[in-house]
Amino acid sequence: MKDFYYYNPTKLSFGKDSVGFLGKLLSKEHKRILLHYGGGSIKRTGLYDQVMDILKERDLEVYELPGVVPNPRLGLVREGIQICKEKDISFILAVGGGSVIDSAKAIAAGAKYDGDVWDFFTKEAFVEEAIPLGVILTIPATGSETSNGSVVTNEDGMLKRSFNSDLVRPEFAILNPELSMTLPDNQTFAGITDIISHVLERYFTHTENVDLTDNLCEGTLRAVIKNSYRLKEDPQDYAARAEIMQSGTIAHSGLLGLGRADDWSSHKIGHEISALYGTTHGVTLSIIFPAWMKYVYKENPARFARFAVEVFGIAPDDKSDEELALEAIEAFENFLRDIGMPTRLKEIGVSSDRFEEMAKKCVLSGPIGQFKVLNEEDIIKIYQLALE
Ligand code: NZQ
Ligand code: ZN
Repeated sequence: MKDFYYYNPTKLSFGKDSVGFLGKLLSKEHKRILLHYGGGSIKRTGLYDQVMDILKERDLEVYELPGVVPNPRLGLVREGIQICKEKDISFILAVGGGSVIDSAKAIAAGAKYDGDVWDFFTKEAFVEEAIPLGVILTIPATGSETSNGSVVTNEDGMLKRSFNSDLVRPEFAILNPELSMTLPDNQTFAGITDIISHVLERYFTHTENVDLTDNLCEGTLRAVIKNSYRLKEDPQDYAARAEIMQSGTIAHSGLLGLGRADDWSSHKIGHEISALYGTTHGVTLSIIFPAWMKYVYKENPARFARFAVEVFGIAPDDKSDEELALEAIEAFENFLRDIGMPTRLKEIGVSSDRFEEMAKKCVLSGPIGQFKVLNEEDIIKIYQLALE
């Protein structure tokens, strides 16, 4: 096990009545807040009115910034920063999914910085101060509700990049699984694919003597897979929605990666697809993760064999680790297809035209990954494996 430092102070309020705790969770010292949200789902579901009633009761001055799009844009972040500076905003409330939360985090950091917020994404600057923020989550997926990351796309060059800072971990996250019941199936299952991927990015490691986190990862994966099938049967199953929402937060809270070297190549390779084609994050992962697995499993077949046995319940019999690894990758792809996710680029209309451009952008800051260090050529091969 590697040494680690862990800090995750986000308060969680979970359950059917959790939105009612918003008033209590908002510190009395905040007078002017920015309410940040997306394209309108929170108005259609009635959540917006519920939140506004609570904020009015608290006599807060509320400034609104709607319009966050999936794969959030830097332009809106800059608008938010300007509002925060002009109106002396002391708290940001993000109501929505990962895109809204990430946009809010970038605004929170950018508003306390004299330079351009993109500097954090290019690592030319590091966050030293941020406006505190809170979250009401409407889609279990990214784990951004307690994570220290923000992922934003710069329209100039269509670069999708991230920064990490403990200063943007939300002060609180309100998690009501019922809010996720209005999600269309494609978003529910793209979110689930993202949750699984956050575990896998940590699970596939060469770090040894990590029994506790191995078991936590495997348990999380089993719970998510089981409850995905329940949701496929009945999208209104509260118990399954609750398991998925809890798993989404745990999967990316940092807990499952403690003491391990993690990978993140599949995420980075997928981000290049979203940047050019606007593809939903979870969709990029359902296509890239299986291709990545096929490309790298020989680096450590025993790890993939363990994945086969512990996650998919495949009987080891007298099979070799390589045989088990291939069975596990097939089982994973079958699961993704069972929940209606695409597993090939051709299914989403992406051809090989821009593979070289995407691979080049992916390694702009150097080779990626830990399980297998990948350069431009490797990444092109993974795109090719994902093609059809
Ligand atoms: O904009 P609205 O109208 O709200 O609609 C959204 C959006 O169209 C809709 N939606 C959300 N909750 C809903 C709902 N529709 C009906 N009922 C509800 N309850 O769902 C759509 C997708 O929302 P989005 O926020 O984009 O989804 P997600 O949470 O998957 O976020 C994806 C973004 O987060 C980044 C991704 O790269 C992507 O940009 N990630 C952030 C991470 C982090 N900060 O730690 C880690 C992840 O790996 C990921 O990279
Ligand atoms: Zn993700």
